[in-house]
Amino acid sequence: MSTMEPQVDFTSPAFKKNPYKILANMRQQNPVAKISLPGDRAGWLVTRYEDVEALIRDPRLSIDIRDVYPPEVIKAVFPFGEVSEALLHSMVFTNDPKMHSRLRNLVSGSFTPRYIETWQDRIQNIIDEVIDQLPEHGEIDFIREVAFPLPMIVMSELLGIPSEDRDKFRDWSNSYVDSLGNPAAAQAIMSDMADFQQYLFQLVETKRTNPSDDLLSKMVHTEVDGDHLSRQELIGMTLLLVMAGNETTASLIGSAMLTLFQNPDQMELLKRNPALLKPAIEEFIRYRGPLLNLNDRWAVEDFEYKGQQIKKGEAIYLCVTSANRDEERFQNGGSFNAQRPDLQRHVGFGLGMHYCLGAPLARLEGFIGLRTILQRLPGIRLAVPVEELTWRPSIITFALEKLPVRY
Ligand code: HEM
Repeated sequence: MSTMEPQVDFTSPAFKKNPYKILANMRQQNPVAKISLPGDRAGWLVTRYEDVEALIRDPRLSIDIRDVYPPEVIKAVFPFGEVSEALLHSMVFTNDPKMHSRLRNLVSGSFTPRYIETWQDRIQNIIDEVIDQLPEHGEIDFIREVAFPLPMIVMSELLGIPSEDRDKFRDWSNSYVDSLGNPAAAQAIMSDMADFQQYLFQLVETKRTNPSDDLLSKMVHTEVDGDHLSRQELIGMTLLLVMAGNETTASLIGSAMLTLFQNPDQMELLKRNPALLKPAIEEFIRYRGPLLNLNDRWAVEDFEYKGQQIKKGEAIYLCVTSANRDEERFQNGGSFNAQRPDLQRHVGFGLGMHYCLGAPLARLEGFIGLRTILQRLPGIRLAVPVEELTWRPSIITFALEKLPVRY
């Protein structure tokens, strides 16, 4: 078995166009593969379901880069000053169970399936309003006009981000996500990120002096074990919720529509039986989910795994896009089947301590959003050949740049 794959740029739109064949070959021939990353870094790409599942919980890997690198190295990977610092202090970047549950418990009540159900009518109204604003018929970019506004409005209302700021918030958070693992892209958005930071400071101050009935105001004024969340923790939490919640859900809805365009029999089935859509959200995530890889994991020691020598400090990418199509786990993993018997088994929401906090919200937005789109835009179809579609360049996410549709 060779340790070095013929080099593939995993951040490139060309790879994203059709990663499945390459990933299937890797699962067969080189399931724990050494890869080179932008910025001359080395890392590992893990493509089999069983290895992704095992390594998520392996204590020799950490999600916290501070466990392996000094601040000057961390600055190169997370280069946006206080914005990066704040994110590094959010729940998703800590391994420490006490710190993690302190942060997660503070907001988890707002994301339980039961609480999220109370948002059902509002989510329905929002998607209806989004569709009401479309021209009666014609061609639109579905991602920009439909898939993005729904989660952005929901999350902004939940958190309390003023409606007039939503577009710039979306642009800032998209540029941040696209720059992950790509130092040149990061360099290009330095001044935008400084504006983003200023904006967030101001927002937290406004909630402190002028609280209302929203999650951010609640977080500013809640005490945890006798102390308040620091300004940095509040900003970290806001950033995490917006970044983790918007783009992922927008991609879920956009990629789901692409999947239905390519599987017209399944589109018909779901139009005839909209109730099937609720469980089928899991299949959309398995088949073409919003993430290519989980967040970087870092080796905290040298160790051998499946014959490969992994060195302390190397980045390990657990490829959920690949694991979710692993034929060892999913029969006919390369086909979309809304009625698949083992719907819940995918790793698209992660596993273990960092399992997606927003899964109930993503499921509900996905279900109500897709049901309404299929009902209200019954003639919706792709407006360009599939080969012309392009994908955004991040190493973590798997998101369509645009999805031109006619209806
Ligand atoms: C289809 C949509 C979504 C997908 C596929 C998704 C996927 C994931 C995955 C895979 C993780 C684990 C990351 C890792 O282990 O490296 C995660 C964590 C997280 N997600 Fe989601 N997510 C989605 C929507 C949302 C939404 C709507 C929210 C809104 C609140 C959200 C908030 C979070 C948070 C806060 C974490 C960190 C949890 C922790 O560290 O304890 N996600 N998500």
